[in-house]
Amino acid sequence: KVENSPYKMAYHIIPPASWMNDPNGLIYWNGYYHVFYQFHPFDVKTGWMHWGHVRSKDLVHWERLPIALTPSNEYDRDGCFSGSAVDDNGILTLVYTGNIFIDREKDDVDECQCIATSADGIHFEKFINNPVIEEHPEEGSGHFRDPKVWKYNDEWYMVVGTRKDQIGKVLLYKSKDLRQWDYIGVMVESDKEKGYMWECPDLFELNGKHILITSPQGMEPEGDRYHNLYQTVYMIGDFDYTTGKYSYHTFEELDKGFDFYAAQTFEDDKGRRILFAWMDIWESKMPSQNHGWAGSLTIPREVSFNERGQLVTKPVEELQLLRKNEYETELAAVQGEILVDGLEGDVLEIIAEFDLSNIQASEVGLKVRCSEDNNEETVISYDVKTSKIIFNRDRSGEGDGGVRKAKLDLDSHKLKFHVYIDRSSMELFVNEGEVVMSGRVYPKSTSRLVKVFSEGDVVSNVSIQAWELEDVWK
Ligand code: FRU
Repeated sequence: KVENSPYKMAYHIIPPASWMNDPNGLIYWNGYYHVFYQFHPFDVKTGWMHWGHVRSKDLVHWERLPIALTPSNEYDRDGCFSGSAVDDNGILTLVYTGNIFIDREKDDVDECQCIATSADGIHFEKFINNPVIEEHPEEGSGHFRDPKVWKYNDEWYMVVGTRKDQIGKVLLYKSKDLRQWDYIGVMVESDKEKGYMWECPDLFELNGKHILITSPQGMEPEGDRYHNLYQTVYMIGDFDYTTGKYSYHTFEELDKGFDFYAAQTFEDDKGRRILFAWMDIWESKMPSQNHGWAGSLTIPREVSFNERGQLVTKPVEELQLLRKNEYETELAAVQGEILVDGLEGDVLEIIAEFDLSNIQASEVGLKVRCSEDNNEETVISYDVKTSKIIFNRDRSGEGDGGVRKAKLDLDSHKLKFHVYIDRSSMELFVNEGEVVMSGRVYPKSTSRLVKVFSEGDVVSNVSIQAWELEDVWK
């Protein structure tokens, strides 16, 4: 039972039981935030995918709703795969991929795009003439999935991910009524280094720039980057509505940790661009499967540009509603490793600020989820010499280990770690989202201590603020 699992999460979207992966159909509709997700009701592994459904008034307290989509027709018989949601004149419309496995072992699939509608935001009916896009174009293949739809100048646009000849591609379609779609062409495609398949594309405008998020498969490690089997990237560039082409000048990993995939965004009624991702990766070890469940989404994050023009993702401010039992301390001098006295837990938010002026130290940081016997710890630090953030989960319990590093060029000498801990996860936001690293960790529930450390020299005036966070599933 999920309830009895020490890995059960307190404030993340998790399945009621069994398996979940991608976030789907993110939308603010009729006073509620709706989040759908890839859900297999009958197994702790991927398989016969449905759309699970939760909604919330405030982005943090979630109400479970009935399964929204069940594979029930020939065109989606092996799965209702990922997709998006739009408001079509007051009708909540889901656009998703109907999946058919031709040969599962050989990863041979036949995919099409479908829609389903709802007047109450709870019960959905599939369109009688599904699929609305039956065949992939010549530039694509049967791997033809994850439609993301948006409206521009009273017309609907759709991007879909595909692959052909080892090239990942985003295809563009256009429609007046969501039912009849015209194929425009390949919007953008990968070169050899950027993956053989682009899953879950998402195009949106932010501060006059066009951001394309996609989840490429098959990228090779390059320096500190792309060390997961799959990862999610963002591009910053321009989309030309007249030619249907996208060009970009920036291509970066969105989250530099271990478990972050299939990210999707939406714009809410406050004009914010909010992002959720699946906080796992296909290849990850998932020890919670032994407790009857697997998978979670990240916390909701707001995507924006900072003053230096960098794309940043930050926890949405509503997460502050979860705070209780505030803890605060100021450590005048830290050298070596010290226990943060009186602060412990496995469901915590921690803000730690370091002043790195005049510092000779080689590495400063935090250790969280530490056990009394020193066998377990999860380390997040800043390597002063190389200017890198490091997330080390080699001693984080029974899940996968590993180390991830990412460059952080300090603007001033301030280093701020904003950390979300939730039983089997750790999400780190450094300096207001300039570097973000997420990872699942599976320490014992008794590993609850927090430490601060500075190697090589003293670091002065470390301030720590922390909260226990509410369990929203209770
Ligand atoms: C991404 C993905 C999507 C697909 C879904 C199936 O994680 O592979 O491309 O629609 O998962 O569950």
